[in-house]
Amino acid sequence: MGSQPKLCILFSRQEIDATVSRLAAEISQSYGDKHPLMLGILKGSFMFLADLVRRLDFPLEVDFIGLSSYGKDKQSSGKIKVTQPLRSPIKNKEVLVIEDIVDTGRTTAFLLDYLRQQKPASLKLCALTDKPARRQVPVPIDYLGFTVPDKFLVGYGLDWDEKYRNLPDLYIIEDKD
Ligand code: IMP
Ligand code: MG
Repeated sequence: MGSQPKLCILFSRQEIDATVSRLAAEISQSYGDKHPLMLGILKGSFMFLADLVRRLDFPLEVDFIGLSSYGKDKQSSGKIKVTQPLRSPIKNKEVLVIEDIVDTGRTTAFLLDYLRQQKPASLKLCALTDKPARRQVPVPIDYLGFTVPDKFLVGYGLDWDEKYRNLPDLYIIEDKD
């Protein structure tokens, strides 16, 4: 048995709360009369999406799409697959993609491309966190929560090897290997 990973808090639940409120206000300004589709990327965005939409006081829809991403090795494979498709067509919809983290950008760039081919009325991106130090593919983030350091994060929906998603705060995980 290796040693237990160490968790260091990066953003508390109070800081997350304030940031989600700020994002909700920004999104309300642009989408209040548009009946948008809030499209969460599984699984990492589930908590962020749930907190965000309960602060939006206008008609909207929610859907999820599943993409293959990191396994236990934490390396972006480069090849991305849709593992859970959309439930209904997005043609002519105002789509706002909700991401947990933009790291290399490969997953998000693939997804935006994939969605754009389905001819939504508009397509924008809201990301809880952005790790710019690791970017390999440029990704325009329209609504951003936090810029984060080049560390592996867990909590508030984000996992390491499927663990820690349930933590209400965001942590840097160390000594995990
Ligand atoms: P990308 O394709 O490298 O941008 O990574 C996309 C996916 O990798 C994200 O949606 C996350 O699921 C996962 N990921 C990247 N960095 C982290 C991290 O620090 N903690 C947990 N998951 C991460
Ligand atoms: Mg993940």
